[in-house]
Amino acid sequence: MATAKIPFNKPSMIGGELAHIQEALEFGQLSGDGRFTHLCNAQIADKTGADAALLTHSCTAALEMAALLCDLQPGDEVIMPSFTFVSTANAVALRGAVPVFVDIDPETLNIDPEKVSAAISTRTRAIFAVHYAGFPADMDRLAEIARARDLVLVEDAAQAFGSTYKGRPAGSLGDMAAFSFHETKNIISGEGGALTLTRPDLVERAEIIREKGTNRSRFLRGQVDKYTWVDIGSSFLPGELIAAFLYGQLEQSDAILETRLALYDRYCAAFADLGAAGRVTLPKTPPDTTGNGHMFYLLMRDLDDRDAFIGGMREAGIIAPFHYVPLHSAPAGLRYGRSAGDLPVTNDISARLVRLPMFFALGSSIKTVIETARSWLQQNP
Ligand SMILES: Cc1ncc(COP(=O)(O)O)c(C=O)c1O
Repeated sequence: MATAKIPFNKPSMIGGELAHIQEALEFGQLSGDGRFTHLCNAQIADKTGADAALLTHSCTAALEMAALLCDLQPGDEVIMPSFTFVSTANAVALRGAVPVFVDIDPETLNIDPEKVSAAISTRTRAIFAVHYAGFPADMDRLAEIARARDLVLVEDAAQAFGSTYKGRPAGSLGDMAAFSFHETKNIISGEGGALTLTRPDLVERAEIIREKGTNRSRFLRGQVDKYTWVDIGSSFLPGELIAAFLYGQLEQSDAILETRLALYDRYCAAFADLGAAGRVTLPKTPPDTTGNGHMFYLLMRDLDDRDAFIGGMREAGIIAPFHYVPLHSAPAGLRYGRSAGDLPVTNDISARLVRLPMFFALGSSIKTVIETARSWLQQNP
């Protein structure tokens, strides 16, 4: 097998990451909630328009905090797409609650609000909406549904840092939002994440849950003279070296966004004719949203076409992977969750979707990816 010449993802340092790590070492605090964590929290709150942001060690951790903040009890239900990463569902299952999987909209690949309405039961407590490929879900419609039934609305914004919906940034569109700074995302720290909150009444409890169920954050602000165990919680915060690296990335978030959007536009233009001819389907920008160039995908004709394309790209040294395997039919999905109705769009999309390499330093290699993909598509009309 040829060695990959163009990987799917390659993490890059953009600016002050190493200098900030050095500063953190000199400053002498390596545990969490130090100077760089606070700088990151402020920067994330500013960029997302949320009331508060709390750094976590992953989006998975932020989702687990969200599930705790929803006060989920065993048997409660949370509506979410099946077309998502396992962490969206795990966070709920870990509380003994039930992920209820609904279908996505075929145009946006985001949770279908009408399917959400139809899935509500007396046990429903929350909606976890994923912003697929960074494009926000239809949050006004979901907020309306949530308000009518007193449900908590959580954004799984793992992929959506820098995206907007009706001019408002992802991270400020629900009651809370979980972001990922995993090395495959736009802004990275290897592993990393954040929880943002738009409800001031939840902030103090979020701080407690994140700090092992203690009021240590209040203690560090001098608001209590000792800290103690006040609630359930866990260790959800990263150390300062991670925060220092992340701050270097956050400082460059506008430049990162611009670079990724330019790559995204280039891909769109390169496949527009094949899209118009019906050979492939290109991503569509959902109404009232702006994306963040997180991902570029193509929808192929069927599973065989998709797998043959992946094989053809791999032979040419280019890694183009598929994405989520639906959760509703996964072993743990069957065990811990339930499907609300059939999910034909999820089954269809997950079999046909392929992602092309997309990372900050992709640069002129995008030309090779485009030429290789186009040539395969032309040879396999
Ligand atoms: C929608 C979604 N949620 C959650 C996660 C988990 O993110 P992390 O790796 O930061 O825990 C991912 C990871 O890709 C994701 O795509």
